[in-house]
Amino acid sequence: MKALVLAGGTGTRLRPITHTAAKQLVPVANKPVLYYGIESIVAAGITEIGVVVGGTAAEIRSALGDGRRFGARITYLPQAAPLGLAHAVRIARGWLGDDDFVMYLGDNFIVGGITGLVDEFRRERPDAHILTTKVADPTLFGVAELGPDGQVLAVQEKPENPRSDHAVAGVYLFTPAVHEAVAGIEPSCRGELEITDAIQWLIDSGRSVRATTITGYWKDTGNAEDMLEVNRVILAGIEPAVEGLVDDASRITGRVHVEAGARIEGSRITGPAIIGEGTLIKNSVIGPGTSIAANCRISESEVESSIILEGARIQNTGRITDSLTGRSVHIIGDGRTSHTRRLLLGDHSKIHIAS
Ligand code: DAU
Repeated sequence: MKALVLAGGTGTRLRPITHTAAKQLVPVANKPVLYYGIESIVAAGITEIGVVVGGTAAEIRSALGDGRRFGARITYLPQAAPLGLAHAVRIARGWLGDDDFVMYLGDNFIVGGITGLVDEFRRERPDAHILTTKVADPTLFGVAELGPDGQVLAVQEKPENPRSDHAVAGVYLFTPAVHEAVAGIEPSCRGELEITDAIQWLIDSGRSVRATTITGYWKDTGNAEDMLEVNRVILAGIEPAVEGLVDDASRITGRVHVEAGARIEGSRITGPAIIGEGTLIKNSVIGPGTSIAANCRISESEVESSIILEGARIQNTGRITDSLTGRSVHIIGDGRTSHTRRLLLGDHSKIHIAS
């Protein structure tokens, strides 16, 4: 069995972060979202992985390499334009051959992995096996209508009037029957070849399509709020560890990981939180739900419920909360503000905060 990981696309909902970076590489608890997916594929015993890449191909390649670090072998499959999930299957046809495969959307996050699902598929081998989960607003997703025995009766892409509250999550298992389906469909009204239409094609052709409903945590990390939520969920389970230096004037409470080479001086860190390699936190308060990446300098500031990417300088800013900031941002305040700020900043942004 192979895995097809989708890491192309545009990531418009995560702009400005994704103007300069791939959305699948935004870190959660200081590790790119995409790594969690690859790790769960390898944990399910699949090591032949094809990664579909688009405009951010160079960045994805340098983050994943040849896959050795994950115990996998990665082949890159360039997609000239993001023409849909079924289009990605079309361009991967040659590499996939006649193998069964799991298709994994690189921006999806599933706590608990996919091993159970892959085992179930291997045992029962329907033509397609999807993962569904109940959501509050199904209009934002593919939606599945399920029969009483786990059979999928119909699927629709982002319907205006959903017939169920079961969203299709971003992990699909297919036999080679899917290739006939993706060859047989036309682009949708949003101009994409939809995998939901290919699945509906299988249903209409009398093929077996089954679903497993996940009860654990799942998130399509489409926007900053989702990203921050996943960050909080993952941080809540991290192992506390102090590998860096914490001075006597600092206080650490809760689940906090201070990575090697990080320094905490005169500061209070309340977990769950992670402080990256080579980062300095000075006379500051870092609150729960916060990931500070490597090589940042934070002084005389307060940061809570946020993801701060590599190389940030944050100085005298007052309180920053629910924020997602790109690489090498400079946020400088006058030290007098009592306001709480919420920031969504792209790489290399420079801002001054005045009271
Ligand atoms: O997250 C689950 C949802 O994913 C499903 O409920 C929907 O049925 C499914 O269509 C998909 O919807 P999205 O609109 O969220 O898909 P998105 O455009 O965000 O693409 C998902 C991933 O696939 C993302 O990592 C980018 C990548 N991608 C996307 C397209 C359209 C590609 O690699 N190539 C593409 O052509």
